[in-house]
Amino acid sequence: MQVEQTFIIIKPEAVARGLVGEILSRFERKGLTIRRLAVRQIEPELAKVHYGHHADKPFFGELIEAITAGPVVMGVLEGPGAIAHVRNLIGATDPLKAAPGTIRGDFALQNPYNMVHASDSPETARAEIARFFGDE
Ligand code: CMP
Repeated sequence: MQVEQTFIIIKPEAVARGLVGEILSRFERKGLTIRRLAVRQIEPELAKVHYGHHADKPFFGELIEAITAGPVVMGVLEGPGAIAHVRNLIGATDPLKAAPGTIRGDFALQNPYNMVHASDSPETARAEIARFFGDE
């Protein structure tokens, strides 16, 4: 399996609830390597670029508000099949559909407060890593 890098954001609600260690440890226990990690406040302008593909959705405003509500922890995880493994570990986008045992299934009740964002393809991963870590 190809070694990949994927991008994650541990969202403001998860940081405020003290779940950063729990969430990172799930990725580490799976065998993924943390390549980059940063605590940041995402500005609304950057959030709108990141979620630009949802700009026409009725929940866009709520989504931008939630991701900019406080500091996030963002990172790059690496390993064989990392993109799919991370998506499996975090669970379905809608916390109601996320299986127990997944991060969203265990810690989230409803969108947009689904705890973690993760890239969904190699192209997205490359773009998101460049967007948030490109200047380092
Ligand atoms: P994320 O993986 O960060 O990518 C897009 C986000 O949009 C998603 O997680 C959810 O937080 C959010 N989202 C998706 N559907 C809804 C919805 N119906 N209402 C509010 N937020 C949503």
